[in-house]
Amino acid sequence: TLPEITSQFEPYFLLSDEKLKDVVDHFRQEMEGGLAEFGKDVAMIPSFVTGVPDGSEQGTFLALDLGGTNLRVCEVRLFGEHKFEIKQQKYKVSDELKEGQARVLFDYIADSVDAFLTDIGSDISSNEPMHLGFTFSFPVEQTAIDAGKLLTWTKGFNAKNAIGHDVVKLLQDAFDKKHIHVRCSALVNDTVGTLLSRSYQSGPALIGAIFGTGTNGAYIDKTRTVTKLGKEKIAEAEQGGQHAGEFMVVNTEWGAFDNGRKCLPISAFDNKLDRESINPRKQAFEKLVSGMYIGEIVRNMLLHFIDSSVLFDGYSSNILNTHYGFDAAFVSGVEGAKSSDEVKKLIIKMLGVNPKHISEGDIETVQWATRVVAERACKLAGCAIAAVVLHTGNDKNTEGEEDQGVDVGIDGSLAEFLPGFFDRVREALVVVLGKESSDRIKMGLAKDGSGVGAALTALQAKKAMEKRT
Ligand code: BG6
Ligand code: GLC
Repeated sequence: TLPEITSQFEPYFLLSDEKLKDVVDHFRQEMEGGLAEFGKDVAMIPSFVTGVPDGSEQGTFLALDLGGTNLRVCEVRLFGEHKFEIKQQKYKVSDELKEGQARVLFDYIADSVDAFLTDIGSDISSNEPMHLGFTFSFPVEQTAIDAGKLLTWTKGFNAKNAIGHDVVKLLQDAFDKKHIHVRCSALVNDTVGTLLSRSYQSGPALIGAIFGTGTNGAYIDKTRTVTKLGKEKIAEAEQGGQHAGEFMVVNTEWGAFDNGRKCLPISAFDNKLDRESINPRKQAFEKLVSGMYIGEIVRNMLLHFIDSSVLFDGYSSNILNTHYGFDAAFVSGVEGAKSSDEVKKLIIKMLGVNPKHISEGDIETVQWATRVVAERACKLAGCAIAAVVLHTGNDKNTEGEEDQGVDVGIDGSLAEFLPGFFDRVREALVVVLGKESSDRIKMGLAKDGSGVGAALTALQAKKAMEKRT
């Protein structure tokens, strides 16, 4: 029966309240470690973005977005009054580009910008180079708003001769070589972009989080909490800020949380995924939570059941036999299905299983697999948010009589398409923070956040540049 087959695995997926609290404790410790020292897994990267927008910002900027499902080139017009308009074009990044020479990848990106400007970028006509904000959704040790070295690739990228290099320079060199009249003036992580964009649209946010291909979060901290920067840099950053210079956006890189495997519930299915990935023993948290991986965890589970002859009469399919043969869309599809017949259709269509091998019991087993994997992903996502809220002391109202609460802007395909994502995240928040504190937390989708975020950062950089000259 189903419980006999599955119960041994449930402790890894249906996490107890104690487990969630334990994860949050470890999370906070690793965050603190990353603020104190360079080189930690949870890198806690200072973004050099020292103020959040208030919605009044105006101007037209280019934004480039690499690291989500697609490469996107956007023209963003900020109108002020929290309003904006985006024209965008998506470009595919092939596996060859992801894993080839970085120079070739950046040439392709520059060509995409060029094609966009020719085809779509109608509002750009000036002798001045166009300012571009670059949303680069990978861990980058930033040294300034427009400079930073790639620490490591994540999410299936592995291009050569990029790690340790300044990604703004790689991009600018590609533009210059091709005489494309664009200046990359700001570099942002997608989480930072999401945080800024959310603040622009709906008032100050504390956290910008991505639950998409990968997962990560950025938040606002006191600059002096980033002790690894040293006194001099902290003073410098504090003076450069818009809001009395006290705050800085920190990119946590929480996807690498618990690479040391001290607390995460890592099952045999996760170990298989990790071993077969291009970055074993890295991004431990991301591999349990994000859209790139949850389909693969389910695949590993189903294969195990097939090999144990308790699913589909022991018959597999080409798709089930293929590494990353299906993705999170299957998980979302089953989670959202209204009847077992609908699930059966998905199994036939998306997994390629022969209908004659699918019993009612099999449908339940598949539903169990997607449910527990989704459940764990969402609960752990909630742990990440709770850890940041606790770290910043935002579980309580510290602002006097009027409690504004805490705002979290969220982007990414998992948050957008997985049914029940927000409800399950909230359940974890209630467990960890209690009902009253968790009620203070507002969460909302900040779709396409990083395009606007990149434009806002380019604006900040442009203003700073004009001030200097
Ligand atoms: C997009 C953002 O909307 O969401 C990207 O603009 C981000 O910067 C992406 O990386 C994350 O979602 P996904 O699901 O495409 O990885
Ligand atoms: C990965 C990247 C991180 C990014 C996240 C979401 O975790 O390392 O920089 O923010 O994916 O796209």
